Amino acid sequence: MSVAKLEIELISSNGEVSRFEAKSGGQVSLLELCEDAGVNAPFGCRVGTCGTCVVRVLEGLELLHQAQQMEEDTLARISEPVGAPLRLACRATVKDGARGLIRLEKVLIR
Ligand code: FES
Repeated sequence: MSVAKLEIELISSNGEVSRFEAKSGGQVSLLELCEDAGVNAPFGCRVGTCGTCVVRVLEGLELLHQAQQMEEDTLARISEPVGAPLRLACRATVKDGARGLIRLEKVLIR
């Protein structure tokens, strides 16, 4: 397993931009990377069912593992089929050895 070295940008729902460097050596979620960097990212269940942590991936989708069934099911329930792809920050994990920028935009669910 090789360590991923990333730059992560999170645009909050009020437009505030947080940008930080992150290293990931395993199955660490985007939510955990934000928390480790002291960046406030909304969450609820942390297991992929509530949808509170949903983000739009503006850049860097290829650096993330593919969504698993529970994440797919939750996204299908909460998302609009327009715009950049959505992921759950609590479930989306970074691929081993990934390098680059991941840009995320917080999406408010109705
Ligand atoms: S915190 Fe509930 S789906 Fe991510």
